[in-house]
Amino acid sequence: MKLKYLDECPKGLRYFDDDDLESKLKPKDIEDIVEIFKTPLTGSYNWDYTEADNRLKKLYALGKKLNWNATLDLDWTRDPYPLTEWASDPEFQAFRGFEPYEKLSEEEKIECSWHVLASGLSNIVHGEQGALLVASQLATCAPTYNAKLYAASQTFDEARHVEVYNKYLQERIGWNYPIMPGLKLLLDKILTDQRWDLKFIGMQIIIEGLALAAFERQRATVMDPLLKDIFYLVIRDEARHVTFGVNYLEEFVSTLSEEEKNDRAEFAYEACVVMRNRFGSTNVINHYGWDAEAAAQAQIGSEAGRLFNNLLFSKIMPNLKKIGLLNDEVSEKYEEMGILEFKDLDDATVTDWDEMSKPLEYAYKTA
Ligand SMILES: [Fe+2]
Ligand SMILES: [Fe+2]
Repeated sequence: MKLKYLDECPKGLRYFDDDDLESKLKPKDIEDIVEIFKTPLTGSYNWDYTEADNRLKKLYALGKKLNWNATLDLDWTRDPYPLTEWASDPEFQAFRGFEPYEKLSEEEKIECSWHVLASGLSNIVHGEQGALLVASQLATCAPTYNAKLYAASQTFDEARHVEVYNKYLQERIGWNYPIMPGLKLLLDKILTDQRWDLKFIGMQIIIEGLALAAFERQRATVMDPLLKDIFYLVIRDEARHVTFGVNYLEEFVSTLSEEEKNDRAEFAYEACVVMRNRFGSTNVINHYGWDAEAAAQAQIGSEAGRLFNNLLFSKIMPNLKKIGLLNDEVSEKYEEMGILEFKDLDDATVTDWDEMSKPLEYAYKTA
């Protein structure tokens, strides 16, 4: 085992070419790149093994039943989707209308579509790793029996998510972009805060809520059927994770004092602000050497971009309302961000147990 410690996360684009992978097949050749963080975790045992909350118990049972296997339940044997075709629907390309992008040839635009996808998927891998670390902390910190079991099952879900997205990225695209600063900031905050309910709010409501909305959108626009299937399987898991957070927090937040509630409401708001800036493809902009401000404006400043960015919050706002974290003060700030209106999307908060309980369908697998 070779470990290399860094003071901060890597910044460059990393390529996984075939030669590189070949030479790294032996464990002794692999060098793990590690960044240390310290956390004052307040853990708890639970000595009462009775199960009080049936919704969590039901979620845990579903998680066990709907476990899928990233290597066996997806068909990796079919010919890879060619990198010479569009990575995602040409109608929805991130930099459409941006002059330096429009000057690229059709071929170069297609290549750019793979960079945008790789940047998105890389950050999904990093985010899933963050979720894996947080979920494992929740198993230690969550005070009740059901929540500990559920957090443990979520930990395994997140491990499979890291595995499946990373496998796709390495084997089908071949390069990996570094984590975006906003996402890293929020993960640092969640992982190092000692209050377990803040970890819950940050991960289960904000990051998971955003991820769910983003994955649904990605599933609709990516072209590779294998990747569509990956999104489908992961979405099925993430829906349970968000439900876990909402059910657990709804009950817990109601026990807090006004001051403690306001504190949590402010934290959730700040997390939303940080995450709002997460979806721009700064990585790709740097790769092409474009003017950062102008390119970012072209990507997220357009009407369509703004609408998409706001839609990402369509799952979060109703849930924040439901668990009681929309006081007057933060509501005003959400209003300014243009996302307060989503709080009344009622159907987003109704847990569709029938939908969540459906057997998994493997659209791509033919065997
Ligand atoms: Fe996940
Ligand atoms: Fe998750």
